[in-house]
Parts: sequence; structure tokens; C-alpha cells
Amino acid sequence: MLRLAVLVSGGGTNLEAILQAIEKKTVTNAEVCLVISNNAGAYALERAKKHGIRGICISPRQYASRDEFHQALLKELTDCGAELVVLAGFLVGIPPMIVEHFANRIINIHPSLIPSFCGKGFYGLRVHEAAIERGVRVSGATVHFVDTGTDTGPIILQKAVEVLETDTPKLLQQRVMEQAEWIILPRAIHLIANNRVRVEDGRVCIDDRG
Ligand code: GRF
Repeated sequence: MLRLAVLVSGGGTNLEAILQAIEKKTVTNAEVCLVISNNAGAYALERAKKHGIRGICISPRQYASRDEFHQALLKELTDCGAELVVLAGFLVGIPPMIVEHFANRIINIHPSLIPSFCGKGFYGLRVHEAAIERGVRVSGATVHFVDTGTDTGPIILQKAVEVLETDTPKLLQQRVMEQAEWIILPRAIHLIANNRVRVEDGRVCIDDRG
């Protein structure tokens, strides 16, 4: 069983998709051991509770320095025996110290087709605003390993979603979640948990037998 820690900041619909996929067994060999939110009011923590999963808040505001916050975060991750860290809408940067500790063991979901609309400043609705402003016909989502850059790590899975003439950033955000994020994030976890993902020379190789 691959032990997962899921890091969240908001509504937690991606967390919900992971938990439901584990319950329905479309994700196998994985269990969520801990949910960490940087925001005590995040609905994601309620979702964790409803599924009987331990959820805690660790916020930079509780610590005198960023470094102490990072140490506390790393301690929770190691104490719960996390083998894969899943960033599911976590809005706080992961420091190199944690990235190195969990090398190729941290994954992130990003709501665009990387390398479009990613990097510093591209999070939340801003990503979808930029896609609509640019007039792209296709957007989507990407699951990637986290390295020390912003959205620069090896890409695991991507799924395209059509952009409609009538889209607003909110409508596009919702469709990208429904048609891409909630599918590819659990799928990536399933593939990793079943040893079907390798990183070679900075690129991901997948043994995708269905
Ligand atoms: C998603 O759009 C995700 O791609 C982004 O933040 C959002 C999180 O939504 N990184 P939720 O908290 O999973 O509902």
C-alpha cells in the first residue's frame, strides 16, 4: 500500500476524487494517511473527516519563520510515513529541502496543458483567464512530478479540454476539473502505486496497460 499525504488549500474536489477512486478501487495499492491544509477553514479538511481520514492545518502563520514552517511540514510528512506527496490545489510553495527529501515522490495537478499557462503567478482562475485571453481552443490539465522550479517537473499525464466561445474563466475552470483533473490525478496515483511510472533522464516513462 502506497501511503499518500495530500496537501490542500481550498475546496478539495481533487482530494474528493482521489478518495472516491480509492473507495471504488479504480485506484489500487494506495491509501491516504494524512491531509494537510495551510488554511484551517478549507472545506477539504471537512471532506477528509467525512472519509475518516486525519486532517490537520499547518499554516506559515503559526511559525516564527518560513524555515520553521517547512521543518514542521516535513516532520508531519515523515511522521505519517508518506511515500507519495500529492499537491491537490496547495497554494504554498514547497521548498527545495522537501523536494529533495521526496525526490520524484511529490506530484502536482496544474489546470492547463504545461508548458502553456504555467509558472509563477499562474494559479487558480488566473490560468483560465489567461487561456481565454489568448484565445486557445484547447486547454486541459497536467499531473507532473515536482522539482525545485514552478511547474517544471517531469510530466506524468495530461488531458485536453475544449475551450468554448461561451466560456468564462469560472466555466472553463469547472470543465477542466470535471473532464481532466478529477480523472488524471487519481489515474497518476494508481499508476505510481502500481509501479508503472519511472523517471529517466528527466522524462516519465509509463507502463500503461490500461
Ligand atoms: C484545481 O484547479 C487545481 O488544478 C489547482 O487548484 C484547484 C484546486 O481545487 N491547483 P480543489 O481544492 O481540488 O477543489
